[in-house]
Amino acid sequence: MTTRILTGITTTGTPHLGNYAGAIRPAIVASRDPQADSFYFLADYHALIKCDDPARIQRSRLEIAATWLACGLDAQRTTFYRQSDIPEITELTWLLTCVTAKGLLNRAHAYKAAVDKNLEGGEDPDTGVTMGLFSYPVLMAADILMFNANKVPVGRDQIQHVEMARDIGQRFNHLFGRGRELFTLPEAVIEAEVATLPGLDGRKMSKSYDNTIPLFGSSRQLKDAIARIVTDSREPGEPKDPDGSHLFTLYQAFATPEQLDEFRADLLAGLAWGEAKQRLLQLLENELGEARERYQTLIARPFDLEDILLAGAAKARRIATPFLGELREAVGLRSFRTEAHSQTAGGKKKAVKTARFVSFREPDGGFRFRFLAADGEELLLSRPFDDPKAVGRISQQLIALGADALELRADEGAQFSLWLDGECMADSPTYADPDALEAAMLRLREAISGLAD
Ligand code: TRP
Repeated sequence: MTTRILTGITTTGTPHLGNYAGAIRPAIVASRDPQADSFYFLADYHALIKCDDPARIQRSRLEIAATWLACGLDAQRTTFYRQSDIPEITELTWLLTCVTAKGLLNRAHAYKAAVDKNLEGGEDPDTGVTMGLFSYPVLMAADILMFNANKVPVGRDQIQHVEMARDIGQRFNHLFGRGRELFTLPEAVIEAEVATLPGLDGRKMSKSYDNTIPLFGSSRQLKDAIARIVTDSREPGEPKDPDGSHLFTLYQAFATPEQLDEFRADLLAGLAWGEAKQRLLQLLENELGEARERYQTLIARPFDLEDILLAGAAKARRIATPFLGELREAVGLRSFRTEAHSQTAGGKKKAVKTARFVSFREPDGGFRFRFLAADGEELLLSRPFDDPKAVGRISQQLIALGADALELRADEGAQFSLWLDGECMADSPTYADPDALEAAMLRLREAISGLAD
């Protein structure tokens, strides 16, 4: 069984060393696992939410695409594309928007933070809040659900969005799946291993703190950045405290255990900070030197990059186009040809079907019933009864009792049973997981309440 892994990279900035250690490197390593079916894409529609500078958007898409390929992403074995090359994503976004509760989006951290900031400043709560920002999680849900991703590697700030994608997918499945899981429900994965890299000043490496080390700057830029790493004022020869030094933490992110032990011992023995920086520079040159050359080549050939990304988009659309067709069908956006066909069959419009009890006799003489949903899905199979009238009586009892009072007992998350007066009357089919079970119970209640009206 392969696992589908999917993640998006917002194309606003230029990748720095922190992005490399925290996201790019682990993602590329994960994509080499034979069990992994990886989807990585440039989230350029998301970038438009935060940035209205076309030149910057364009530059960033180019740089990020080149960075991932230069770092070793294999565009053959993975699916690597630009979000904006997949029109199905925006179409799906609308389908999902229509089943997403506004209240769910009101709770999104990014939106709430913007509102809180406005309120603090005495502004109208929605000042500067676009519908793009507000609907951001729906677009992200479409990215994820479109490809039925199982695992979504993200930073901690994005966990909530992946959970929202689950909620939205589940709701859509419930409304339109007719017992089928149209969408796989994704899970966020946070790499425990990758600590966030400290920047030059020891705070988290981030463009907003202006403390980054460029990933593919020139050798000169790399050297200058390293020279700016803040250290304490211990003199050469004085013992240094490795664990109190973010220079050491940076070194750690790229060193083998042996290199790290040696570095630690040398710092404790009084290695000068200038020397220590020289060693970090050497380490980074070894790790990134070749990739930097590949990067320069790629950046200089945007036509080739375009071809690679368009091939990735074509590959992604081989999945997205037919799947979106199914989803359109599911919500009722269907061709009139199929509609006309089913309506004229037999000369007149078919009667609207409702849920129903279907009773039958077993070869051994027992009587049973099945309870079927309007679309024919089997919701329950009864236990056998000796009395043929039991079936009619029980169905009347259930309808009288009403959907909400039904006693359903879930068993091991795979099956549930229906109880009346302390006696087990019927069992459900087995379901793949607790979510599917939950959804089936809901359908049963809906079918019973449908009978009552
Ligand atoms: N919102 C993500 C971020 O800022 C980027 C992103 C967009 C994404 N779509 C996604 C991540 C889908 C994972 C899956 O980091």
